[in-house]
Amino acid sequence: MPDASPVPPSYVRSPSVAFLGSLAVDRALALHDLAGSLAHVEMLARVGLLSDEEATALSGGLRQIGTEVEAGRFSWRPELEDVHTNLEVRLTELIGPVGGKLHTARSRNDQIALDERLYLRECVHRLGQRLLALVTALVARAEAETRQPMPGFTHLQRAQPVSVAHWLLAHFWRFDRDLDRLLATVDRAEVSPLGAGALAGSTLPIEPTIVADRLGFSRAFENSMDAVSDRDFFAELLFDLSLLAVHASALGEEVVLFASTEFGYLERSPALGTGSSLMPQKRNPDVAELVRGKTGRVVGDLVALLTTLKGIPLSYDRDLQEDKAPVQDAVSTVEGVLEALSALVSSLTIQRDRMLRAASDTELLATDLAEALVRQGVPFRAAHESVAAVARSKGGLRPETIAPLLGLDPDRSTTWCGPAEALERRSSPGGPAPDRVAQQLAGARSRLEARRHSLSSLGRRVERVQELTRERAK
Ligand code: ARG
Repeated sequence: MPDASPVPPSYVRSPSVAFLGSLAVDRALALHDLAGSLAHVEMLARVGLLSDEEATALSGGLRQIGTEVEAGRFSWRPELEDVHTNLEVRLTELIGPVGGKLHTARSRNDQIALDERLYLRECVHRLGQRLLALVTALVARAEAETRQPMPGFTHLQRAQPVSVAHWLLAHFWRFDRDLDRLLATVDRAEVSPLGAGALAGSTLPIEPTIVADRLGFSRAFENSMDAVSDRDFFAELLFDLSLLAVHASALGEEVVLFASTEFGYLERSPALGTGSSLMPQKRNPDVAELVRGKTGRVVGDLVALLTTLKGIPLSYDRDLQEDKAPVQDAVSTVEGVLEALSALVSSLTIQRDRMLRAASDTELLATDLAEALVRQGVPFRAAHESVAAVARSKGGLRPETIAPLLGLDPDRSTTWCGPAEALERRSSPGGPAPDRVAQQLAGARSRLEARRHSLSSLGRRVERVQELTRERAK
């Protein structure tokens, strides 16, 4: 009696399928899995392991499943444990026993490793675009603020004058490095693991480079055991996202501080957050606080993955299935953070008077004063001491007390102490003087252009998945 059930007995899993199953997390990889299968079918046909008719039937079936998945019509069966088995069982339902040829020279071990690398590429492309929007917003805001002075801090104490542009650009460079790191993570991950089989390749005459080419990877694996067990790319992604979240958190913290009554540098506009349900006067910087707060989760995701990876023997171990949840959580969390932060940056409203008053604090000019003495030939240590003595004296650092030290008349001393002139003076390379910031902005703009370019080339590689699954049966 032929078995009426389309589910081959080898697919029927133990009753603990709820524990073993991964469908909840790996369903998201369905299209990547189908693209990998389509590339695999092409390879099997090229090396003579499938006839043309078999390859056509398999590809047609896989593409039909792609349509079902994209339309939300695919009926997922949790008892089939994972995305791979769900798709393969459906394939056999659609095209009959020839469906059983798909898994020739392949294991779910190399299959999942491939799916994950394709997924990584897509996630980084999405995250990269959001990050690009954030850095673009920072540059746009900075462009208009090169002459807006503000105090710069060390130890959260007023230290030396900077401009709002210089402050915003400091955040820009951090995030730009984050983008660079994400792109480098993808570059390192552009290795196709398909053909590694369960762990030791195959006795059949397969050609892994055909699959690699078809999926837009730069090469195929070097070592089959490494190929099925390597999750470095996810660990790197989670580190990249953790550091990005740490950077976002630091900016969030500054917004919280600067929007406080104590600082008053930023307006507590409605875009910053909500009111209090109890205290009628309150407007809280919730958005910045949550940007700061979400970081804990993302760092937790990194630690979760590293802990899973620690000490598992080569090659594939089922522990590796636990890699998906932290990655998916971190990716969606950081996507949300980036979106919120871009909107926040664009909506920041500077309280110019408050900020100008703070930047006009003559204490900020103590170093300038010492350096003015250095110009007159005084050794820096001695200059430091003379300025410290004035600062500590009853009169403190004021245009009148500074004038004799510099040999300036009082009027000239007042201009010398003005925040605009103070900013102009800080003209060493990479400094906050408006001319230097203009150079910095030019560098930042060309960086944006380069990143845009890298992301669009990544976008073309991401499209390989859709191109493969949507190519109508030829
Ligand atoms: N669900 C598994 C994972 O995510 C796929 C590979 C399973 N391999 C196996 N031999 N059970 O890692």
